[in-house]
Amino acid sequence: MTSAAADIVTAVYPDTRFMGSKQRLLGHIADAAARSRRRTFVDAFSGSGCVAHHMKARGYRVVTNDVLAFAYHWARAAVENSTVTLTPDDCTALLAPNKDAGTFIAETFADLYFTDEENALLDAFSANVAMLSDPYQQSLAYAAMTRACLKRRPRGVFTYVGMRYDDGRADLRTPLADHFRASVQLWNAAVFDNGLRHEARHGSATSMEVDEPSIVYVDPPYFSTRSDSDYTRRYHFLEGLVSYWRDLDLQPHTKTKKFRSPHLEFQSRTSAYASFEVLFDRLRDGGHQVLVSYSSNCLPTREEMLDMLRARWRRVDVVSIDHVYSFGTHGHRLGNRNNRVEEYLFLAR
Ligand SMILES: C[S@@+](CC[C@H](N)C(=O)[O-])C[C@H]1O[C@@H](n2cnc3c(N)ncnc32)[C@H](O)[C@@H]1O
Repeated sequence: MTSAAADIVTAVYPDTRFMGSKQRLLGHIADAAARSRRRTFVDAFSGSGCVAHHMKARGYRVVTNDVLAFAYHWARAAVENSTVTLTPDDCTALLAPNKDAGTFIAETFADLYFTDEENALLDAFSANVAMLSDPYQQSLAYAAMTRACLKRRPRGVFTYVGMRYDDGRADLRTPLADHFRASVQLWNAAVFDNGLRHEARHGSATSMEVDEPSIVYVDPPYFSTRSDSDYTRRYHFLEGLVSYWRDLDLQPHTKTKKFRSPHLEFQSRTSAYASFEVLFDRLRDGGHQVLVSYSSNCLPTREEMLDMLRARWRRVDVVSIDHVYSFGTHGHRLGNRNNRVEEYLFLAR
């Protein structure tokens, strides 16, 4: 596939405003990866999935991984899946009332994020998805509904209740069902075939197994003493929705009705350093090359990251990119000077 064709395909990946998304750095990431000869790209912290999707468009075989189940569905819908889509009739069936549906969402989240009708719709949707026999259709449905929930929410997060940050956007008044139908069209449009087989996985990067020598893209939550990068706190509702809160430790006393996050790697100073050491050992032992995204206002520092990589790989190159985060991460107020950071890409071979 030519790079012009790649750009056309990448342009149709749904926008998600996912915290830490590298949507605006795709060209830099692809250029850095191209310095390696490896043709299998492992996106070990895939998040929104936009990087993996872009690399698929650039002709790589792609493997994705994330600890969040909804991120896994996004990647399975638009990266692993190369052919399956949802029809308008599928959408109608997914949004229809279901007499076997549960009432967990209506009861647990009443008056918190969505209207009573929308909570009932989400309960019915959860029962309807289970009736789809194609796993890719299930992932497309989850991808579209979780994106719909994000669009319908001020700031696209679930860290507070009510509509406190309503900025008058039309999206906040658009019914969830309409967001869902629109999102299905966007995810459908993101599905394409580059002739290779891809894989989406769900688990921790520190224990993932990849057999073939690959280039592994490492874009973990960035640890900073000034802000948290807790994905579960922001997105707990989406994560709950894709399993109907099965096996999640809901904390009923919290205002937001979040669940206790089982994912603590990269969340504190000690665990961030330790997790990089474990991950890099594993990737070096597996014969992989790595491409790491990290930023200047986070820990480990640039020098510490270089030391860790040089201790394990022969050649390490760094690219610095001036980057302004427009939303959601590391000092998330627009115009805040903390938003201006150097974004680093470390390539270790
Ligand atoms: C900076 S974001 C990745 C953003 C992504 N590159 C994009 O462009 O959308 C970090 C991701 O790491 C995931 N994550 C956190 N801890 C993880 C772990 N131990 N293993 C795999 N993924 C993890 C989070 O769920 C989040 O999706």
